[in-house]
Amino acid sequence: MADNQATLTLDGKDYQLPITEGTLGPSVIEVAAFQQAGYWTYDPGFMATAPVESKITFIDGGKGELLHRGYPIDQLANNAEYLEVAYALIHGDLPNAEQKADFFEKIRKHTGVHDQLRKFFEGFRRDAHPMAIMVGVVGALSAFYHEDLDISNEEHREITAIRLIAKMPTLAAMSYKYSQGEPFMYPRNDFNYAENFLYMMFATPADVDYQTNDVITRAMDKIFTLHADHEQNASTSTVRLAGSTGANPYACIAAGIAALWGPSHGGANEAVLEMLDEIGSVENVPEFMEKVKSREVKLMGFGHRVYKNFDPRAQVMKETCDEVLGALGINDPKLELAMALEKIALEDPFFVERNLYPNVDFYSGIILKAIGIPTSMFTVIFSLARTSGWISHWLEMHSAPFKIGRPRQLYTGETQRDFVTVEDRK
Ligand code: SDX
Repeated sequence: MADNQATLTLDGKDYQLPITEGTLGPSVIEVAAFQQAGYWTYDPGFMATAPVESKITFIDGGKGELLHRGYPIDQLANNAEYLEVAYALIHGDLPNAEQKADFFEKIRKHTGVHDQLRKFFEGFRRDAHPMAIMVGVVGALSAFYHEDLDISNEEHREITAIRLIAKMPTLAAMSYKYSQGEPFMYPRNDFNYAENFLYMMFATPADVDYQTNDVITRAMDKIFTLHADHEQNASTSTVRLAGSTGANPYACIAAGIAALWGPSHGGANEAVLEMLDEIGSVENVPEFMEKVKSREVKLMGFGHRVYKNFDPRAQVMKETCDEVLGALGINDPKLELAMALEKIALEDPFFVERNLYPNVDFYSGIILKAIGIPTSMFTVIFSLARTSGWISHWLEMHSAPFKIGRPRQLYTGETQRDFVTVEDRK
């Protein structure tokens, strides 16, 4: 229901554009009237466009604020388990004790994958990037659940959300084990979500009394929470657009994984470590910064489309980084280099004038490396964690009538041309 309206005068005619207020953040101007006037709105990169209404996540880029269902991200990351946050993203609030026990049990029951799915991995070279495997295998999951793919059926939508959140750690660990030439580890449902993932990643069949490290497990779970959801980012918008065609949820999540892979998005954590490797030492930072300022390279892990202040996730990630490196007694020169980069960037006018601060990806790679996770797995872990966010947006879209997403364009191509046969073409 519009709260106000704006008047647009086009070609001498006034159009009333309804303005609708949210509970937080900017109000929106409904632009359908442009169509009546024979115009499209033009907003490359969707810098000022809200294609949907949502109640899941709110970001205030100026304040560096991130809320999931109204809870600040630092409170969730420091006090809740990832699966509690996943429940809140899907159901609208954190679970009570009974709801938590029920949801955790449902996830535990669905961590396994069909044995036939194992054969998909054998089609990949051992050196395949694990994100290539994840795009393929997650999309293929729909082939195993024909009986539960009626997306108009709420129960089918619910069980699919459970299956995806439950199976992503298993598939992620399988993509790692495959690259190592090691046997897949079946999920152990006596472990919690993060423990189970680390077990499937690093244990071998010989590890009959595998022990987890509480600091590492808690850090892993916190990393999952910090990556769970982030409003209408590129990969979430991809999931929604794919979902708007009625595509099955596994295909939509596979589309989200593909979009996340890009180095400007979820691929940045891997790119941060590659950048730190390239710089090598603190002495080389000034020369590297000159390359950034001349736009030869970007400072990976810095900048954000929305945050023009600190990314609140980066602050929690930095605290976690200190905890993990301290607990493991690791003095990682890459952390020292990262902190030198951060210090210089936060003082340098080039970055200050462009509001370029560390984002969620800047410190995550250092923690993951300290835990022993290879760089190629960083974005896989991001996709594992973001699955709860992606599927919550997919469920939210299906909770009300929606139209297929079909943007228009500013056409600047050729106008009328007469056909010429190939013999007469110049
Ligand atoms: C994620 O959308 C999300 O929410 C994403 C995410 C999520 O959780 O889903 O938060 C996860 O993707 C985090 C971002 C990870 N990407 C990186 O760390 C890659 C490095 N960052 C840049 O590629 C860039 O900052 C983006 C892609 C993140 C944002 O790009 P924008 O919106 O185009 O940046 P901008 O308009 O704010 O840029 C302003 C200026 C430009 O220079 P000018 O042409 O105005 O002179 O800053 C420059 C940009 O070229 N700039 C950078 C820079 N980021 C922006 N210059 C050097 N290094 C950078 N990292």
